[in-house]
Amino acid sequence: MDVGVFIPIANNGWLISKTSPQYMPSFDLNRRVVQKAEAYGMNFALSMVKLRGFGGESEFWDHALDSFTLMAGIAAVTSKIKLFASVAIPTCPPALIARQAVTIDSIAPGRFGVNIVSGWHVAEYSQMGLWPGDDYFRYRYDYASEYVRVMNELWSEGRSDFKGSYFRMDDCRLSPRPVRMPEIVGAGQSDRGMEFVATYGNYNFCFGKGVNTPTAHSDVPARLMRAAAKTGRDVGTYALFMVIADETDDAAMAKWQSYRAGADLDALAWMAAQSATDSTASVHSTATHMNLPEGAVNFNMGTIVGSYATVARLLDEAATVPGTKGLMLTFDEFLIGMDQFGQRIQPLMRSRADVSGAT
Ligand SMILES: Cc1cc2nc3c(=O)[nH]c(=O)nc-3n(C[C@H](O)[C@H](O)[C@H](O)COP(=O)(O)O)c2cc1C
Repeated sequence: MDVGVFIPIANNGWLISKTSPQYMPSFDLNRRVVQKAEAYGMNFALSMVKLRGFGGESEFWDHALDSFTLMAGIAAVTSKIKLFASVAIPTCPPALIARQAVTIDSIAPGRFGVNIVSGWHVAEYSQMGLWPGDDYFRYRYDYASEYVRVMNELWSEGRSDFKGSYFRMDDCRLSPRPVRMPEIVGAGQSDRGMEFVATYGNYNFCFGKGVNTPTAHSDVPARLMRAAAKTGRDVGTYALFMVIADETDDAAMAKWQSYRAGADLDALAWMAAQSATDSTASVHSTATHMNLPEGAVNFNMGTIVGSYATVARLLDEAATVPGTKGLMLTFDEFLIGMDQFGQRIQPLMRSRADVSGAT
């Protein structure tokens, strides 16, 4: 089973809290995280694209680096690990992203791939006059499909005359071409998102669910497998989990509870309003504030909390979910978390026996 890391390209990682570790993103932090990942035998690192934060006292994600240029820098200081950058497709034409990908492929031959982000957070795009209108929600995967087809033609043929509903190429050229076709990944949870990856992608990222319930998301990989059965392509799911580990279960749980207690409600309210279908809901409405289920402070991302042995056991369980090709991890404190994973957790994981020698 593959394991990767979702690197902290924006401030505070994935904890929308005033009492979690507060830090800014930097090249140096992300370089160290990915170099540790490589040293511990992790298979890949992904950076997201985030163009607008959620505000609040913790200024959640108000500080974020650019995904492609960050990964280009990281490509130059790593040698084995696979790297994925994310593109927000309403912001950048496919021929340009195809060329950026080729450039990173020339820094890290055969190690680079692209995460296609169709976009859900309207303010990221409207702030720069690039939101196509709410109708986009309806056709975004058709748009994404044409986007990938253009890139694939340029990477494989070096030219494209693609004529679609959204993109029209006119003897568009690309050279040099990549040493191998960059992998395409997606992160949609909808059936249409699955269909998109089953047709054009290699992997789909899905959110793990719940706290210490490592198989609760199993319907999502099952849906991807059903979609892939129709296209006949070999695709798999990478499930996303946050790891909060310590010497004992109690110590780890105390950290998790302290992060929850400090939830940044204003930032959470912004997120809820941005993702709500009802655009008239008030950001400060009581309902929004009251609706704080156990996982909301980290996006309801599947969370594994416990001693190193507990975390290893639960991650091994997550690996048993049919359709799982790998796990992608985030941490409350990335540099410490990477060492905890590499030195204390991974050596206990049966699903990582190829790397750790565990039996
Ligand atoms: C692992 C992972 C990575 C993601 N990366 C991004 C990202 O870089 N930028 C972003 O705006 N959304 C990102 N998302 C959110 C998804 O793109 C979003 O859930 C998707 O657009 C929703 O599509 P759906 O309606 O098919 O579920 C990510 C989600 C996951 C699980």
